[in-house]
Amino acid sequence: AEIRLAEYKPPVFLVDTVELDFDIRDDRTRVSSRLAIRRNPESAERNAPLVLNGQGQKLVAVRVDGRELAAGDYVLTDKTLTIRAVPDEGVVAIESDNDPAANTALMGLYAAGPMLCTQCEAEGFRRITYFPDRPDVQSRYRVAIHADEDRYPVLLANGNLVENGKEAGGRHYAVWEDPFRKPCYLFALVAGRLDKVADRFLTRSGREVLLEIYTEPGRSSETGFAMAALKKAMRWDEERFGREYDLDRFMIVAVSFFNFGAMENKGLNIFNDARVLGRADTATDADIAFFERVVGHEYFHNWSGDRVTCRDWFQITLKEGLTVFREQEFVGDMNSPAQERLRTVSVLRRVQFPEDAGAMAHPIRPASYQAVENFYTATVYSKGAEVIRMIQTLVGREGFRKGLDLYFERHDGHSATCEDFVRAMADANAIDLGQFMRWYAQAGTPVLDVTSRYDADSRAYTLEVEQRCPATPGQDTKEPFHMPLRLGLLDARGGDMKGDMVLKLRRPRETFVIEDVPEKPIPSLLRDFSAPVRLNYDYTDAELLVILAHDSDGFNRWDAGQKLFAKYALSGEALPDAFVTALRTVLMDKDLEAGTKAMTLTLPGEEELGLALIARGERIDPVAVCEKRRRVIKALAGALSGELWATYREIAAGLDEEASDGVARGQRSLKNLCLAYLHRAEPGKVAPVAARVVSGARNMTDKIACLDILVDGDAALAARALAEFAETFAGQPSIMDKWLGVQAAERHAGVLEKVRRLMAHKAFSLNNPNRVAALVGVFAGNPFGFHAEDGSGYRFVADVVERLDRLNPQAAARYAKPFLRWRDFDAGRQALMQEALRKLAALESLSINVREVVTKALGAD
Ligand code: ARG
Ligand code: ZN
Repeated sequence: AEIRLAEYKPPVFLVDTVELDFDIRDDRTRVSSRLAIRRNPESAERNAPLVLNGQGQKLVAVRVDGRELAAGDYVLTDKTLTIRAVPDEGVVAIESDNDPAANTALMGLYAAGPMLCTQCEAEGFRRITYFPDRPDVQSRYRVAIHADEDRYPVLLANGNLVENGKEAGGRHYAVWEDPFRKPCYLFALVAGRLDKVADRFLTRSGREVLLEIYTEPGRSSETGFAMAALKKAMRWDEERFGREYDLDRFMIVAVSFFNFGAMENKGLNIFNDARVLGRADTATDADIAFFERVVGHEYFHNWSGDRVTCRDWFQITLKEGLTVFREQEFVGDMNSPAQERLRTVSVLRRVQFPEDAGAMAHPIRPASYQAVENFYTATVYSKGAEVIRMIQTLVGREGFRKGLDLYFERHDGHSATCEDFVRAMADANAIDLGQFMRWYAQAGTPVLDVTSRYDADSRAYTLEVEQRCPATPGQDTKEPFHMPLRLGLLDARGGDMKGDMVLKLRRPRETFVIEDVPEKPIPSLLRDFSAPVRLNYDYTDAELLVILAHDSDGFNRWDAGQKLFAKYALSGEALPDAFVTALRTVLMDKDLEAGTKAMTLTLPGEEELGLALIARGERIDPVAVCEKRRRVIKALAGALSGELWATYREIAAGLDEEASDGVARGQRSLKNLCLAYLHRAEPGKVAPVAARVVSGARNMTDKIACLDILVDGDAALAARALAEFAETFAGQPSIMDKWLGVQAAERHAGVLEKVRRLMAHKAFSLNNPNRVAALVGVFAGNPFGFHAEDGSGYRFVADVVERLDRLNPQAAARYAKPFLRWRDFDAGRQALMQEALRKLAALESLSINVREVVTKALGAD
């Protein structure tokens, strides 16, 4: 059944305070609650009963104002507890039993290896205790935890520790109080034997904050990046947005079983260990770059999420789009803003554009859903961040800051809607953002078709801009969007003739005349990717080469290269000398950052090339796309062999294996790109180099990059390297995940057999989301695996979805999502994908998570 935004009703009861008592025992955890409830004056349902959400626990007792209810006084279903006889104001006390060890869904209270922890967003709190589990009910919490002291020496919850001590039988307890009202999805509890690293931060108004990072025993030496990132994030949010931390303590706990990246619980962030723990010798640079990003993201939620939260789960982008935007600005400021922008846009194109083109395309604020967990998507997060960025482009950085201040001022301590946010931006800047709200309601990636004319006599340059947006499920026609189109005009040598301009688009078709243009310009359109659209303009290759070499806008320089790459990859034409020369110039440029060089030399991904085919009205053969991409790499590597080797050797000689700051990461990515490219052209020369790195290097990025190269070549060499790696890192699950991933990514027809065997390897477990992501997730993105022509990959993934669904529906639904795009592939694959979907749809016991994806995938034609 669809839940609809339009049907929102305020809660019937509010809960002002919550007292929770957790009695942790070996076989169960008893949760006792005391809820101070009161009828909501805003609710129109004057006489409605108290309905509490609750599932997956055993109800023990219910009391209202001290009186124990008999079974006939309430109605219990598998999802709700309804109490009719309640006073308008009173205390409801409930006892129930949780079984954390049996909780494989990893929502609510669950055992994560040696510890117990919680995950409540979006609807996990109802698995812990009966409660009105919705974000517009905010309460003050006091939490007592009792447990065996030996097994659970550390007992944590949100806020401040107010009391602790010993209890009989080797047990102990702790009491935590959170002075801030919060929705229950921000509740958290952790208990276990944990190592800890502590530090301090002094806020700008002089509050001393205790910072603690907790890990499983033995891993505290891997917290360095995270602690440094946390302090940087705290300072940055003060400086850039005037936001200060508000409690005396900020805790991060790294857990080894977690359904996604991390969670912003008030004062007690819980992280997937893969997103927070690692050193240069245990994690790759890509992992390490995530630490700063995700630590920042969760910390920034303290304001954009916790202090001001969402009214309902349709508004996820209110906190996530905004927080991703804040995270991107932070990561840019800490490293390279230009590179961060390139990364952001390439992720958007690779992950969000396909989502927008698939059977579950939705606006950044969906109008309806069945399982809210299915809507923590790239659209809500990444496109949501682009929508926030467009507001900043429209009102300017200062205007944006004013709007954000007003938003926090108006809504602090409350739950809000996307309208509230946009209204604060509009009010603070006295502009009309009414039409802009369509970004929140319409799905699909808009297309801009741009044409131009230059009139030499009048020196006028005319741009015609047409916007359209493809139909998406349930939305056949779209209204025009309000968006900023940033651009510049280059002369024939690439000089900027008019500086940066921002056109504001509002109508389906608009004409802009730019006066006083001295010569026929090359337009540099959509600078900085000023709107999340696809833009068509009929550039000549020569024009793109000028942009690639000279544009003052770093984004468009990079994007010009991407356009040329896509063109030559898809057409199969040889790379023209002029393009190779331009790339050689980039590679040899003494002033350009290595990371930017690497990004410029990287071809658009297989996903993006596939989408380019769709845009031309063709269908995708993913194996062919992979091969087209490889052909270009091989040609380029052949032409630039000398420069690639020189670059490789120069960086390899000077780079410290232990360094993983932004600059070192950029250099390492360029170095390893050179080697991977060279391997296409000169495998015999590269393989021994790679083999030496896999066994000799201490740096994990280098090891994995070279393992990747080896598995793509000589089978015996690859097998030896993989075996040696497995022997070295057996017993270190997060490192073995890389080993699984490298093999699941092998681009050849035998990959399915290999993955099947790895499912039985001791390094794999269907119970752990990181293991599943490493093997099944990577396989699902492998054209030779998932998209194998005989349908074996589709059947395999569908089978995993079915099995995983019994353990962890949220994770299972993730692996059903690749099927949403079946319409984009060639006829043979379409039929096979539908067949796999129908088989899933026919299963009787399917979670609503997977059911929603499968039925929407099959959807109306
Ligand atoms: N709020 C978390 C974050 O983005 C993610 C929560 C995801 N929840 C879910 N049910 N998938 O920081
Ligand atoms: Zn978030």
